[in-house]
Amino acid sequence: MGPAPAEPGGGLLRGLPMSIVYLNGKFLPADEATVPVNDRGFLFGDGIYEVTPAYGGRLFRWPQHLARMERGLAAIGIEFDAGALKDVKQELLARNGLDGAEAAYVYVQVTRGVAPRTHHFPDPPAPPTVYGFANRYLRPSMAEWARGIGAITIPDQRWARADIKAISLLANVLAAQAAVAAGAGNTIFVRDGIALEGSHNNLFAVFGGVLATAPKSNYILHGVTRDFVIELAGEMGMPVEERAIPLPELYEADEVFFTGTTTEVKPVVEVDGRPVGDGTVGPVARRLFEGFVAAVGGR
Ligand SMILES: Cc1ncc(COP(=O)(O)O)c(C=O)c1O
Repeated sequence: MGPAPAEPGGGLLRGLPMSIVYLNGKFLPADEATVPVNDRGFLFGDGIYEVTPAYGGRLFRWPQHLARMERGLAAIGIEFDAGALKDVKQELLARNGLDGAEAAYVYVQVTRGVAPRTHHFPDPPAPPTVYGFANRYLRPSMAEWARGIGAITIPDQRWARADIKAISLLANVLAAQAAVAAGAGNTIFVRDGIALEGSHNNLFAVFGGVLATAPKSNYILHGVTRDFVIELAGEMGMPVEERAIPLPELYEADEVFFTGTTTEVKPVVEVDGRPVGDGTVGPVARRLFEGFVAAVGGR
């Protein structure tokens, strides 16, 4: 059996029929939540988002997700107290019956608000638009997980601040669609010959028992799951190098896997049509996934 088929959204996008969303201080049914056409998120993709997993109704690594969101908001000059979103996230889980769900996630985005269209910031600033929703995350069965996915590589055409979790995701959208068109499960961004990360997740490779992943820079998103998996690897006695992985080296890896919220630890068994290692899921990805699930609960 070959790698699992395309799974562009990470296997998470199954909508709740009557979902209750959050918009600007109110909880309301999704189909009643509307945003004015002059919202700068709509016009420019001018905003920051964050996706936090919740296991058994408990937000996972909220302080780290909050810190990244605060960094992003500060980097693009939106004044907003993101700390207040913790209660919003818990409430979204509760109102959607997800407070006991094995695995769920909460999405929030904050845009620069509604103002007549000018490229520069509105002056005086507009109140930010704040939107959030929660959904169940459907983990693959162990059998599906163990098939792994195929990945293709693509030139990284994102802007040079991939460390900011901006809602303007056109290059990521095109990358994910390129995977769908190729019948692959995901796309790996390659910049100047270096394999950086997936279209919506971080990338690890294993060489002789040593893990490698791109160092934190402005060219990758600083994944919360990436940090967690590095910690897990440390606890399991697996060395990790944060270093550049040239594409020719990636092709020679024993194992390759992605990490991310909802991605968790996802093994890659084929890159650009070439088998990774012996073309099956390897022991490092398996141990880390098992360690991950044991740490967060469920299954
Ligand atoms: C481009 C990119 N890299 C990495 C990640 C993984 O980050 P995290 O583990 O915090 O979900 C994401 C998550 O959305 C992403 O979009």
